[in-house]
Amino acid sequence: MRLSLRFVLPLLLVLAGIAYAVAPLVDKLTLGWFIRDIEIRSTLISSTIQEPLQEQLLAGRKAKTKDFFNRIAENERLYAVGYCADPTGAVLASRSFPAEISCANLYRWEGAANHLLPSALGPLHVSIKPMTSEITATGRLIVVHDMSFVTRRSEETKRYLFYVFMALGAVVSLITVIIAQLSWRGWMAGMRSLLRGEGILRKPEQEEKQQPPSPPGFKPIARDLQRLIHELESETRARDESQVTWTPEALRTILRGELSGEDVIVVSNREPYSHQRRGERIEVQRPASGLVTALEPIMRACSGTWIAHGSGSADHDVVDKNDCVAVPPDKPAYQLRRVWLTAEEEAGYYYGFANEGLWPLCHIAHVRPTFRSSDWAQYVAVNRKFAKAVVSESKTKDPIVLVQDYHLALLPQMIREELPNATIITFWHIPWPNPESFAICPWREEVLAGLLGSSILGFHTQFHCNNFVDTVDRFLEARVDRESFNVSFGGKSTAVRRYPISIAWPPDAEMMQKPVPECRSNIRQINDLPQEHKIGIGVDRLDYTKGIVERFRAIERLLELNPDWIGRFTFIQIAAPTRSGIDEYQHHEVQVRAMAARINARFGRQGPPPIVLKVEHHEPQEVYEYFRAADLCFVSSLHDGMNLVAKEFVGARDDERGVLILSEFTGAARELPEALIVNPYDSDQCAAALHLALTMSANEQRDRMRLMRGLVAEFNVFRWAGRMLLDAAAMRRRSRLNDKPGTSNL
Ligand code: F6P
Repeated sequence: MRLSLRFVLPLLLVLAGIAYAVAPLVDKLTLGWFIRDIEIRSTLISSTIQEPLQEQLLAGRKAKTKDFFNRIAENERLYAVGYCADPTGAVLASRSFPAEISCANLYRWEGAANHLLPSALGPLHVSIKPMTSEITATGRLIVVHDMSFVTRRSEETKRYLFYVFMALGAVVSLITVIIAQLSWRGWMAGMRSLLRGEGILRKPEQEEKQQPPSPPGFKPIARDLQRLIHELESETRARDESQVTWTPEALRTILRGELSGEDVIVVSNREPYSHQRRGERIEVQRPASGLVTALEPIMRACSGTWIAHGSGSADHDVVDKNDCVAVPPDKPAYQLRRVWLTAEEEAGYYYGFANEGLWPLCHIAHVRPTFRSSDWAQYVAVNRKFAKAVVSESKTKDPIVLVQDYHLALLPQMIREELPNATIITFWHIPWPNPESFAICPWREEVLAGLLGSSILGFHTQFHCNNFVDTVDRFLEARVDRESFNVSFGGKSTAVRRYPISIAWPPDAEMMQKPVPECRSNIRQINDLPQEHKIGIGVDRLDYTKGIVERFRAIERLLELNPDWIGRFTFIQIAAPTRSGIDEYQHHEVQVRAMAARINARFGRQGPPPIVLKVEHHEPQEVYEYFRAADLCFVSSLHDGMNLVAKEFVGARDDERGVLILSEFTGAARELPEALIVNPYDSDQCAAALHLALTMSANEQRDRMRLMRGLVAEFNVFRWAGRMLLDAAAMRRRSRLNDKPGTSNL
């Protein structure tokens, strides 16, 4: 309505103004026409009566002449008629002849300028016509017309004019309002589809049927507008982000400010704490997992619920009737909801499809993926189980759900079916391969469709985002916008974004408690190594993607090329047992153990061994003590989404010492160029890097470490989570605005 008034009021005002200005003009015009008519009429009367009048005058019949004039003046518009023989005489006139006219003042009306005589009845028109005769050459006939009818006609004309303008105004207003409403709606629809990332995109036929087509007129400007919006958004985001000091408190503030009272649920396969039975005792264990390292501090900061597979031997014993337990055990901050899996489910879903199928599929580590339909069936069933847990844990109809990793690729779509208004942020912690590699997966369409149930899908690097978008473009009927990196599928849009994961900063004070000299001394002592001995450290799950074999080969090559290091350098490899139910992992463990034994036999006979292999679980405090004690840390992954061990080593070194050797095939290599970047397949290059690290000056170590610590401090895990949550908050605000009834009338 307000929109209509905005158009109609000015229009009516303009029309009224025009009517007001036009009325006097019309008045003047019609008056001119009437005067001309009266003049013609007067001439006609004068020529018609000339003959009879002259006869009367010649006969000297004044009374008869007056009667004659009275009869003529009975005509409706003729007011009076008179005759002057000469200017000095009296007027011979009809009854109503105006007293103001005399033979002496006829000159007043004789010119062309003024024929009007005002009277009590209204204006009179006076026309003087010469009427020469044999008696007098100066005779004048005076014809007086009543002009009140002109005033009446003028009033009527004004009234008609007013009605015409009113009708015109109404018709024009109506047409304007209809066109304005239609255009506005179209415009708003265009803007909305644009903001949803649909404005400029190619529509698959299937979706064309479901949605009204976006107005074609928007397409040319949509691209520019969308680019502008994205540029502004990313500029604002970068500015806002860099102004925040990213701490748990900052994250809490964002949650309170941007997502106040929202329901936050994290879902992952791996649980952040597992309870293990050790005889009569129950022990709490923190699994070796990058995912847990990153998300645990976030959950401590935001509370909420973390849903995960309860895999510990005593997990059942500690949960309440809803399968929940408050964690961390020493200082509970959030709820851990455990999902129970049968042995068959775990075999098919976790060991089978996730770790024998998707894991080698996504990592370029030259291990063939194995896909079995029985594993796929379990994968689908377990994802469904997790979806049910999410629905039962959500307190609102539109929770924020953070889905983690490749174990739960189908979950986003399953949640979307149950909770259409949920904001689902999925983070894929491992690399995404190119479309040719991904094509191997027999259920590639299903996996892609499952992930596209997400509102936001995150990867560590832009390269993985590109691979994902290429894969979707190749295998699905979806709209892919490469400008904004939005994918529209099944009527829903997914933003594909890069969010490089990181660690908590500053690192947990508990981990940093022991001074570096004490750590150096303890670790050497525990491992029977001399105090001045050089130590390298590697911390990984015992996984073939981590390049442990290649790392050992590099150590062997170092000792071949620089025998001085024999007996003076030991590499301690902490290898957490992992996925030991899978053949490939068992072979890998055998290979790693054999290799360490062979190298130790070759170079460690006379003194400390070149390699200390510890295949066992270590708690984070122990790992940090090793990091702080070492002279170098070697991360040689063959392929890794990010690799948080690299960042943890940097975080642990508040003494600004120690050298990081980092595989170029990790996501971390893109963020930490001050590390010694190596190709793990090139053992000579890796051996040279080891030598360089062992001989690097304290100053150079400090310069490199300072830069790396600065980056990890700035781009810490709170920023990683904060960026995703801020994007989710913006998305929620936008979709609430779009869904608001009556928005089109704005
Ligand atoms: O790298 C992917 C990942 O899910 C990590 O996030 C995590 O560190 C690791 O795998 C854990 O593997 P699992 O849960 O099989 O022990």
